[in-house]
Amino acid sequence: MSENNIQSVLHENRLFPPSEEFKATATLSADKLAELYAHADRDHEDFWATQARTEIDWQTPFTTTLDSSNAPFYRWFPDGKLNVSYNCLDRQLEKNADKKAIIFEGDAGDVEEITYRELHSRVCIFANALKAQNISKGDRVIIYMPMIAEAVIAMQACARIGAIHSVVFGGFSASSLKDRIEDTQAKMVITADGGHRGGRIIELKSTTDSALEIGCNSIENVIVFKRTGHDVAMKPDRDVWWHNAILNQSAECEPEWMNATDPLFLLYTSGSTGKPKGIQHSTGGYLLNAITTMRWVFDIQDSDVFWCTADVGWITGHTYVAYGPLATGATIVIFEGVPTYPDAGRFWDMCQRHAVTIFYTAPTAIRALIKQGDEIPNNYDLSKLRLLGTVGEPINPEAWMWYHTVIGKEKCPIVDTWWQTETGAHMLAPVPGVTVTKPGSCTKALPGIDAAIVDQEGNEITTANEGGYLVIRKPWPSMIQTVWGDDNRYKEAYWPYFDGKYYLAGDSARRDEDGLFWIMGRIDDVLNVSGHRLGTMEIESALVSNPLVAEAAIVGKPHDIKGESVFAFVVLKGDRPKGGIDDELTQTLRTWVGNEIGAIAKPDEIRYADNLPKTRSGKIMRRLLRTIAKGEEITSDTSTLENESILPQLQGKV
Ligand code: WTA
Repeated sequence: MSENNIQSVLHENRLFPPSEEFKATATLSADKLAELYAHADRDHEDFWATQARTEIDWQTPFTTTLDSSNAPFYRWFPDGKLNVSYNCLDRQLEKNADKKAIIFEGDAGDVEEITYRELHSRVCIFANALKAQNISKGDRVIIYMPMIAEAVIAMQACARIGAIHSVVFGGFSASSLKDRIEDTQAKMVITADGGHRGGRIIELKSTTDSALEIGCNSIENVIVFKRTGHDVAMKPDRDVWWHNAILNQSAECEPEWMNATDPLFLLYTSGSTGKPKGIQHSTGGYLLNAITTMRWVFDIQDSDVFWCTADVGWITGHTYVAYGPLATGATIVIFEGVPTYPDAGRFWDMCQRHAVTIFYTAPTAIRALIKQGDEIPNNYDLSKLRLLGTVGEPINPEAWMWYHTVIGKEKCPIVDTWWQTETGAHMLAPVPGVTVTKPGSCTKALPGIDAAIVDQEGNEITTANEGGYLVIRKPWPSMIQTVWGDDNRYKEAYWPYFDGKYYLAGDSARRDEDGLFWIMGRIDDVLNVSGHRLGTMEIESALVSNPLVAEAAIVGKPHDIKGESVFAFVVLKGDRPKGGIDDELTQTLRTWVGNEIGAIAKPDEIRYADNLPKTRSGKIMRRLLRTIAKGEEITSDTSTLENESILPQLQGKV
């Protein structure tokens, strides 16, 4: 990817207004959007109360919109009662019972279509099975599944009975799984024998067994869905096959009516310090923004086939696979496999075969597919597509332009959506029938979202293109409630400055001369590898837990496809390999990190030195390490460095 191209596109500052054709059918016109903004400006709480009354079926309507008495522990719609699964499934039965809810495609190309009626009954049956296994309201349930329809069924079933699910991405290791089980004190794991990815089997049951062997005393039962059919061990009294658990269960299951502020789920994500945090989301507020963003940003309509390629192990797979689309009665595509199997046309082939109209993916996937050439997408009929989206990291303008021309045929608006696990739903994003987009910008805050860029003192930066902290100044319904079991960590991580007045996103950003937002990167030690957040501390601790390693520092190195790759500097307890490189040891340590955290955290490169560069006060000089990882000349002042002589070692020169 050439720098020149990126520069020139940026320099051109090209604007992309929505086409007349798109505008003609879009649900939100410029006037309607202006009304939403005006309402939110006039009365923030009344605005969200109105949305909540319109979009959610309440069993008991709320009378209080927002309780701020214990800020920053904001409580939205505190006296309202509802059920998320009811709002996703039961209310579709009247008009949409025979509409496809899920089009599932397996890795090998097997397809299963599930109507809303069927999905409703399968969720109810599984919810009853959970109850029969002693799961009830408030219990935590771990879901460790392949990307198959049953993963969504399991999530919906938990929501139906008020159990709090915590989905663990199938690529995480036994040790990561164990950490999450222990932190949540879950009673059950729902898993599968395995999953299929790119023609191979991903082990899930045996990994679950390994996790349960090293701890996890809270677990009473494991439900195992048979997906691959390969041999797995079942432990009597603890493990039960899904197909046995659902035998004789009724297809009726009265939803558990939950308080709007009861937790719906926990999802773990990396921060700059310590272990991953269990982000706790609410029932009512979360559902509301999942729905409003489906309407405002995805312009969801009855005839749409909506495909968000994210795995349910990430927040995107929660809000835009398991909840938002179903709550708006959409048809979704769920795909078990990878974009390059059996070949790099898989995404486009599926868009054609399933007549996908809205396609939402990550910049890293787009960049990987660009490399395969235009002929591949050009071989497919992509004419049904009407809207494209991206999420997870800034999209470089060159990739944006390719997405726009080669996939969108210059007629599909692109919604570049900025949000986080903690925000629950889109925060900054275009409204496709209205917003004039610029490649690389996530454009504007949505109605009711008060985003700003501030300096160290919390003063708003109004100068165009000057960078600062991205903050949200008013609470919003789908906001994080707390860090599970650690209220202090919630306060310290997200409300540390400005007297706890603003939510600190952890990203730096700027606004251009048109007021559009551009995300510049993280302000903390969090890497973004292929759109996934990885804490440097987590990978460092994993490395240091290897008996050969004395010390480690992790930095991100810019990467064409992944955005950032993991670069490790390691100090061994024994002798340093010559030249700072040792391929065999590097393989060993990569495998080690894979086992400790998961394959996504494996360092791409490891360089060995006698010491890490530290200031005299003992802080690792990460900025210096980043420069070195990039192979750039060191121009910064290294005089505060304790041991300057290690520089050539870190650079791999000696
Ligand atoms: C980054 C993913 C630029 C950002 C939904 C954020 C983005 C982190 C964008 C959250 C975007 C997400 N443009 N950067 N459109 N979307 N990010 O929790 O750094 O996995 O803080 O949530 O991803 O990652 P998370």
